[in-house]
Amino acid sequence: MEVVVCPSSEAAVTLTARLVEAEIRARPTAVLGLATGRTMEDVYAALVASGASFAGVTTFNLDEYVGLPPDDPNAYAAYMAHHLFARTDIDPDNTHLPDGMADDIARAAEDYEARITAAGGIDLQLLGIGETGHIGFNEPLSSLRSRTRDKILTPTTRAQNAAMFGGDPERVPARALTMGVGTILESRRLLLLACGQAKAEVVARAIEGPVTAAISASAIQFHNACQVVLDAEAASALQGRDYYDFIVCNEPKWDPHRDLLEIAST
Ligand code: F6R
Repeated sequence: MEVVVCPSSEAAVTLTARLVEAEIRARPTAVLGLATGRTMEDVYAALVASGASFAGVTTFNLDEYVGLPPDDPNAYAAYMAHHLFARTDIDPDNTHLPDGMADDIARAAEDYEARITAAGGIDLQLLGIGETGHIGFNEPLSSLRSRTRDKILTPTTRAQNAAMFGGDPERVPARALTMGVGTILESRRLLLLACGQAKAEVVARAIEGPVTAAISASAIQFHNACQVVLDAEAASALQGRDYYDFIVCNEPKWDPHRDLLEIAST
């Protein structure tokens, strides 16, 4: 794992967007795994502004609320259309989200896994982290081998996402269809972004704590190509920060990307 701490959330967002942009410029037919949430909004704005072509890119989103039609403004399908898909040259046929309106949710979950496999797997999976430690909507005690399935959301997550639903946690759907932790870990590369003080404790538990189903994000410790980009606030509870900074500054693989590291330090 590589932990890159940026002085500001703006720098962390810019670095994350540049890493995704670099992936699709290097591999124009990349298969991207995408996340939603407030943290990602600025990443998508930066990607749109970069002018990078998504014409050959295929995407799979992590999750979708159960029971919200794709055109509901709070559905993640609508979020993605608004923040990214309608603003790029991506082929809508190549964008995929779990079908939270399916009559048979278990079958929709299986179908989603099959579609990821048919696309050749995910090259780069973008991740946020929830206050419960979830990645996707893998709430605490999700199996670290879990596959796409529907999960009940914790009261903490419904409160975290209430702002999009008029501030009322009760209006946040109770369930979501989400890639599993096992599904996420099969991506060839992981890129997790977290910003803000509210994420500091859970970020430290995910990166430095024991691997535990109580914090789904701790499973990223099993992945051999995982980058974590943080702003200073989200990094503020880390014990090993000096060492992580040392690694990034002295790691030869960053040498061709010094311009990216400059973003991380300004
Ligand atoms: C949503 C998702 C979630 C969010 C997480 C952080 O697709 O995967 O895991 O990334 O809840 O959300 P924000 O950025 O709103 O704090």
